[in-house]
Amino acid sequence: MNNFIFQNATKVYFGRGCVKEYLACLTKKAKTILLAYGGGSIRRNGIYDEVVGILQEKGKTIVEFSGIMSNPTYQKVQEGAKLAREHHVDMILAVGGGSTMDCCKAVSLAARYSGDIWEDFWARPGVIDFEPLPLGVIVTVAGTGSECNGGAVITNEEKRVKTGRDYPQLNPRFALMDPTYTFSVPKGQMISGSFDILSHIMETYFSEPNEDNVSDDIMEALMRSVIRNLRIAIQAPEDYTARSNLMWDSTMAENRVIKMGKKCDFECHNMEHQLGAYTNCNHGCGLAVLHPVYYRHIYREGLPKFVRFAEHVWGIARDGKTDEELALAGINALANFIKEIGLPTTLKELGAKREQLKEIADSCGISQGSYKAMTHEEILEIFQECYE
Ligand code: NZQ
Ligand code: ZN
Repeated sequence: MNNFIFQNATKVYFGRGCVKEYLACLTKKAKTILLAYGGGSIRRNGIYDEVVGILQEKGKTIVEFSGIMSNPTYQKVQEGAKLAREHHVDMILAVGGGSTMDCCKAVSLAARYSGDIWEDFWARPGVIDFEPLPLGVIVTVAGTGSECNGGAVITNEEKRVKTGRDYPQLNPRFALMDPTYTFSVPKGQMISGSFDILSHIMETYFSEPNEDNVSDDIMEALMRSVIRNLRIAIQAPEDYTARSNLMWDSTMAENRVIKMGKKCDFECHNMEHQLGAYTNCNHGCGLAVLHPVYYRHIYREGLPKFVRFAEHVWGIARDGKTDEELALAGINALANFIKEIGLPTTLKELGAKREQLKEIADSCGISQGSYKAMTHEEILEIFQECYE
């Protein structure tokens, strides 16, 4: 196992009724709260009324910051920071999914920083030597795991770059996670969010070291859990057990626990983020198109792990197969699962234009943790293979 330092500052309150039980206490010290949310799903499913009711009962001043779009933009971050400054907000409460949480992490930084946060913290790694505005989150959709890390993925539309950084100081102070809040998530989003969870785990699992390490064992259990519970939730969207497991799988995949001692790849994320910057595609859908094709490019360099994946995650028996055949059977099982759950399999379906592929490929970051170091030429090959 590689050396590591582990810290996770977010306190999680998980389970049915947790918002009603804990929100008032968690916001006790705040006078003015920036209530941040997305396109309005929380107004339709009753979450808004529940949250606002609790805050109003305690006499809080609420400043609304709404309309946070999927794939939040740097411009939206600046809008939130302006509101927070103008109203002397002393806490941000983000109610939503990865987009709302990520946008609010960036707002919490920008509200307390006079410079350009894109240039100083996203374009390159920066040093946060001041206290960002305190942030608490109420999670309404499982997928990104943003509730328990300092990662914030922001799209700079002007520069056509979508990128994230993980600053421990941006971990939310608390995360309220009620699985029943996810019952109303549209089926397509539930599926793409669940694939995002699977992707986070695979991006970590398929990286060195390959020697016996507890992170790989945990990840195999998590991957099986996502696959099993997603199948159940597709049939029964209000199955509390399945939704609870998916919600916690999502956190476990991105709360840094499984990354300990691992190099981590995240090349599929690098590629998807740039596809997103050009097409504004759904994050989980973009990942679903890329993963099987990318893995067919790299499996030979990580053969023992791909064999383990086939056996331990998909339960494929060796039955006289060579290592290479077994590894490919595991990748095929992943591709079949993507089809089974109805995710897209081509970049064309995501709205990418063939003539743009080279420009997008050239703009992708190159991971240092991949079993096989990519080149921009090979990324273009991958894009072309899954174009249509
Ligand atoms: O905007 P509203 O109206 O709320 O609707 C949202 C949105 O349309 C809807 N939704 C959320 N909760 C709902 C609901 N609809 C009904 N009932 C509910 N309870 O779901 C849609 C998607 O929401 P969004 O927040 O965009 O999805 P997700 O959580 O997948 O976040 C995606 C963003 O997170 C980034 C992605 O790149 C993308 O920008 N990521 C963040 C990461 C991190 N911070 O650690 C890691 C990830 O790899 C990822 O890159
Ligand atoms: Zn992701």
